Amino acid sequence: MRLLCETLFLVLAIAFSYAAPTLHDFMMADHGEAHLTDEAHHEAKPDRCAGIEFDAIAPDEKGNTFFFKGDHLWNGFRGPAQLTKEFFKELNDHHHLGHVDAAFRMHNKEKPQDHDHIYFFLDDKVFSYYNHTLEEGYPKDIQLDFPGVPSHLDAAVECPSGECTSDSVLFFKGDEVYNYDLATQAVKKRQWAHLPNCTSAFRWLEHHYCFHGHNFTRFNPVSGAVEGTYPKDARRYFMKCANFSHGSDVQVPKCSEVTLDAITSDDSGKTYAFAGHIYMRLDTHRDGKHAFPIGRAWKEVANGVDAVFSYSDKIYFIKGNQVYIYKSAAPSTLIEGYPKSLKDELGIEGPVNAAFVCADHHIVHVIQGQKMRDIDLSATPRMVGSEFPLPLSGIEAGMCGPDGVKVFVGSNYYHYESPMILALSKLNPIPIKITPDIFGCVD
Ligand SMILES: *[C@@H]1O[C@H](CO)[C@@H](O)[C@H](O)[C@H]1NC(C)=O
Ligand SMILES: *[C@@H]1O[C@H](CO)[C@@H](O)[C@H](O)[C@H]1NC(C)=O
Ligand SMILES: *[C@@H]1O[C@H](CO)[C@@H](O)[C@H](O)[C@H]1NC(C)=O
Ligand SMILES: *[C@@H]1O[C@H](CO)[C@@H](O)[C@H](O)[C@H]1NC(C)=O
Repeated sequence: MRLLCETLFLVLAIAFSYAAPTLHDFMMADHGEAHLTDEAHHEAKPDRCAGIEFDAIAPDEKGNTFFFKGDHLWNGFRGPAQLTKEFFKELNDHHHLGHVDAAFRMHNKEKPQDHDHIYFFLDDKVFSYYNHTLEEGYPKDIQLDFPGVPSHLDAAVECPSGECTSDSVLFFKGDEVYNYDLATQAVKKRQWAHLPNCTSAFRWLEHHYCFHGHNFTRFNPVSGAVEGTYPKDARRYFMKCANFSHGSDVQVPKCSEVTLDAITSDDSGKTYAFAGHIYMRLDTHRDGKHAFPIGRAWKEVANGVDAVFSYSDKIYFIKGNQVYIYKSAAPSTLIEGYPKSLKDELGIEGPVNAAFVCADHHIVHVIQGQKMRDIDLSATPRMVGSEFPLPLSGIEAGMCGPDGVKVFVGSNYYHYESPMILALSKLNPIPIKITPDIFGCVD
């Protein structure tokens, strides 16, 4: 458990840092840099930890996030600035502008030929890239692709259907926001007076962020509403900066040393792994892998959990002899009256090692030591219906998905086609190793 915590902490250190902010001089936040000559640019490599204002931020089709400033970019949440032309050659060739105005990654399920392309906006032109290759026919006038959208933009960000009413793009210019519907090409102009003028905008893990100065503000892409305490300093969240980190760096552990406390996948496919007081989303490879303190999403169980399962739009956390039930929909809220005792809720005594529900079923399979106890969640009072001795010992986490059951023992997991096969099998299947592509550890 300790080692996964450290892996997750490392990821955390990369993406998020919770140290108290150190105020840096606001050194490079004006646009002046963009007008330097090419030569001067190459000498002046921008430092994003000094507190700069980005020109644009966008992920590519593989989930690498690019931050743009002048003729430089950063690839990801850590590392030094590199020349943009080494990644997107034509952006510098065409206009000698030395900076991009705005960029976003297209989300358009109706037009697969455009989906996942990165669009860049420079003055009055738009560039479309896929696989870091400029598409044929680009650059072109912005209005040819996006009629009704002005030139000389400040920021742009995608807004998929579900987050906006249809697949859309939000364009920002000064204090005006243009909501562009990709299917109908309708443009709605808005002013969100309480939102600062965004110089770049970024959608990350289903949230929308407006960047201004070295700060950012999260906003609702439909109403523009800002909830929570903003602005926040981007250096504490979106990049790794020495004086903004939580302290000592930790070694990336070997996958062979990783252990989970709990894992669950809900009906919408969101998958969470828990270890210590950290959780990680495992289904968001398109935005990179990230870890967060559990308390950020579920504050009452911030100190860690024994078992977690998802059932009918809710997520159940078991810790010791207590059960906490939260609504799955963000922001997740603890249901009134909880925590309750395990005895009252499920009719059992703790501790619980693992628990899971398979989609469309009402049975929670609770693993305690080398026993699996099945409890019908649609019955009252709740009680153990059947109990099975298990062939495996040491199970610490388990989940059920479309491909069956996975139970985690140390740094391995075992795959069974169903809970029944897990319960009745006499021979253990071959253990499968936790791999870097799933858990961010090293081989
Ligand atoms: C992506 O681009 C590289 C070279 O730039 C090329 O070798 C590769 O085949 C391309 N991949 C796809 C899927 O087009
Ligand atoms: C925001 O944009 C508007 C319109 O371009 C401009 O008048 C205003 O000064 C800007 N506000 C700030 C704080 O830059
Ligand atoms: C950034 O946000 C802080 C508040 O969190 C504020 O005090 C500061 O003035 C802001 N700086 C800029 C450059 O927007
Ligand atoms: C971190 O802060 C210390 C003390 O203020 C300073 O000397 C050092 O240069 C800073 N490091 C970076 C990378 O900014």
